[in-house]
Amino acid sequence: MTAPDQSKIFDLAVEVLKENDQGGYTIPTKGLYPFQWNWDSCLTALGQSHFDEARAWTEIETLFEHQWPDGMVPHIVFHVHSDGYFPGPDVWATERPVATSGITQPAVAGFAVRRLFERARDKEMAARRARALLPKIDAWHRWFYANRDPKGEGLVAILHPWEAGRDNSIDWDEAFERVPTEGVEPYTRRDTQHADPAHRPTKEQYDRYLWLVQHFRGLDWDNAKLHDASPFQVVDPGFNAILIRACADLADLAETLKEPQIAADNRARASAGLAAMQSLWSAPHGQYLCKDRITGALIDSASIGGILPVFAAIPPDNAHAIARTIEKQGKAVKFIVPSQDPADPRFEAKRYWRGPVWLVTNYMIMDGLRSVEENGVSDRIVQSSLDLITQSGFAEYYDPLTGEPCGGGRFTWTAAMVLEFLQLAKR
Ligand code: DGY
Repeated sequence: MTAPDQSKIFDLAVEVLKENDQGGYTIPTKGLYPFQWNWDSCLTALGQSHFDEARAWTEIETLFEHQWPDGMVPHIVFHVHSDGYFPGPDVWATERPVATSGITQPAVAGFAVRRLFERARDKEMAARRARALLPKIDAWHRWFYANRDPKGEGLVAILHPWEAGRDNSIDWDEAFERVPTEGVEPYTRRDTQHADPAHRPTKEQYDRYLWLVQHFRGLDWDNAKLHDASPFQVVDPGFNAILIRACADLADLAETLKEPQIAADNRARASAGLAAMQSLWSAPHGQYLCKDRITGALIDSASIGGILPVFAAIPPDNAHAIARTIEKQGKAVKFIVPSQDPADPRFEAKRYWRGPVWLVTNYMIMDGLRSVEENGVSDRIVQSSLDLITQSGFAEYYDPLTGEPCGGGRFTWTAAMVLEFLQLAKR
């Protein structure tokens, strides 16, 4: 890509971030997602830091203003009223001062805050704002292990597919059969009015998403009860890897900011998590797999959830094996990294997390591969990502076979990741 192309793309990405900025928080895209989403915001802050450092810190601070007293950081904050999204605050009924959902999302905040701190031009502001966020992020990490790893296995479970952020991944299909659909209150989906239904989860999946929400609501969102009461408990290696990386990054940051207790606690969480992660390795697949905590069995689905662990400090042999797996997948698709192995008969090139490429997962995988000097594969990920936006604009996700844009358009975190990738492409 030539330099003028890069500066034009930079300007277009900034335009998307600014038009979705609501003041103290940024919506993922107009129409489809009209509120603040947890991991969207933390990754968005990285993009914002390229043109407005102070605004980037605010994005994460606003999210943490809505942290629950028990430490959980919810996956959606409903700052304003909007009929355009379902399920809204009345369905969640979490009774928070500002309405929020009752589940969480991948814990990218610790990673994002450390990165903001390291690249800060205004060091004094960064130290002040990072210091204020440290105990809050630490409380969230503590919450995860206390509530989602009650037996102290070192790995946390998700209780709802929306928590993984990979809503309709093939990973959940089998475990999801255990979630009933009887008694789901009548509802009207809004997502399919904003995006092509063929790119979105199915009605059957939505019924089960809603059943779980109603079930947890019936338990008054008491996090001490939800884990054991959930018929869906899945240990996702990608979700855990993000949390482990966040713990390790928070520990480093806490050392720099002279908070030894936070550093020690997060270091311990990261090392227990990394040790336990090895039980999810699958040599035949050349990647990690999810585990169904209710049956105790590994789930035979080669998804991006098992590729993402390169984002954490897994053993280099495993990281190199994952790089070979991506190379192999790269022979079957034009753009990497697909969210499901294209050789899997269940792969669907356009349906949300059952095949499409997402720039956020590309970014985390690329970052991990660079740290083990898998430069060939990581450069190809950067190139694929930039080619996608050049060909198809700032879409929510992309068909890995054709590059066709899918889901929502003018998407915030896609634009944020583009700013990150452009920075790397310059080096
Ligand atoms: C949705 O509504 O599609 C979200 O992914 C749930 O967070």
